[in-house]
Amino acid sequence: MANWHLFDTRKEMVAGLKTAIIEKLGAAVGQGRRASWAVSGGSTPAPLFVAMQTAQLEWGNIDIALVDERWVPFDHPRSNEAFVAGNLLGRNAASAQLTGMKTEHTRAAEAVDDVNLRYAKLKQPFDSVLLGLGADGHTASLFPGASGLEAAFDADAKTCVALTALRSDVTGDEVERMSLSAKAIADARHVALMITGYAKKQVLEAALAPASGLPIGRLHKMRSFDVYWAP
Ligand code: 6PG
Repeated sequence: MANWHLFDTRKEMVAGLKTAIIEKLGAAVGQGRRASWAVSGGSTPAPLFVAMQTAQLEWGNIDIALVDERWVPFDHPRSNEAFVAGNLLGRNAASAQLTGMKTEHTRAAEAVDDVNLRYAKLKQPFDSVLLGLGADGHTASLFPGASGLEAAFDADAKTCVALTALRSDVTGDEVERMSLSAKAIADARHVALMITGYAKKQVLEAALAPASGLPIGRLHKMRSFDVYWAP
């Protein structure tokens, strides 16, 4: 099931999502353990990340991890790790620990074991996962038609998987990816999909139709999630 949270403005959406994430992460650290929040890159979450910087949370006990990464170095303008570090890790949130996916390996496929070792140190299932959506129906780096997509949807998939997407306007040049597997996302305690604009709303509505084979639709068949939308 998709639980729709529809807002009139992006500002209100960010405020609503911020409250929900604070509640999930706060409850987790309130149990006296580290909390884990896996977040998407792209561009949509930037205002949420900036807003989260002032959240009153025990950030020193919170692990931030990436949902996915383009296989580019940290100093590349398309690095998701740099995007998250630059927008989220300030003010109160500066004391959070960020775990990225990029390694020194030339190819993402060669790095899978090392990245899974990194992620094994994080609290799983994740306390919350923040997803985005592409115009092609991808979420995380689960791209339609990607090499590695079926392995990424395997019921026994490890937490992190490597994929190579078909090049498109959505992927840009960065077709080589590391991503959370569908299982790692589906197992999370809470999943929120953050989208803006009427075009993405239509993409999602179409993808949620039972006959759709798009990755976000397949994930929806595995678990329910919250949708946060504003025009
Ligand atoms: C990535 C992202 C990806 C993103 C969507 C939406 O690395 O490409 O993590 O899954 O969430 O592509 O991207 P926008 O927010 O830029 O529209």
